[in-house]
Amino acid sequence: MNRQFADLIRAASAVRKQAYVPYSGFAVGAAVQCESGAVFVGSNIENISYGLTICAERIALASAVAAGQREFVAIAVVADTTDPIVPCGACRQFLAEFAPDLIIVGATVRGNQKVENLSYLFP
Ligand code: THU
Repeated sequence: MNRQFADLIRAASAVRKQAYVPYSGFAVGAAVQCESGAVFVGSNIENISYGLTICAERIALASAVAAGQREFVAIAVVADTTDPIVPCGACRQFLAEFAPDLIIVGATVRGNQKVENLSYLFP
C-alpha cells in the first residue's frame, strides 16, 4: 500500500459502502485531501435517468467546496476492479476547476494502486 495515501484510501474504501448503485452495481468511493488537512468523502449516486448520476469524485469535491475548502492535494478513488480506475472526463473537468495538479490515487479493493496527476489525464 502507498503509505503516503493509506489513510485517504481507507477513507475512500469506507465510503464506497454507501454507494447508491441500483443500476450498474458498480460502487465507487472517493476521498479528497484538502491543503488544510481536512478529508471529504463521496460515493457514487445513480439516477434512473443515468445522465444525472453523480460520480464519487464529484460528490467528494463538491462536499469539500461546500464546506469552504478551496485548495486540494490529492483524491483517492476506490473500486472493485482488476486495475485502479481513473476519473471520467466530466470529473476531470470538475476537479481541474479547483486543482489542475491534483494527485489522483487509484486503488482497488484488493490493494492494487496507481498514482497519476490530473495534469497528465487532463492536459
Ligand atoms: N463512477 C464513479 O463514481 N467514478 C468513476 O471514476 C467511474 C465511474 C460511477 C458512475 C456510475 O455510477 C458507475 O460508476 C458506472 O459507471
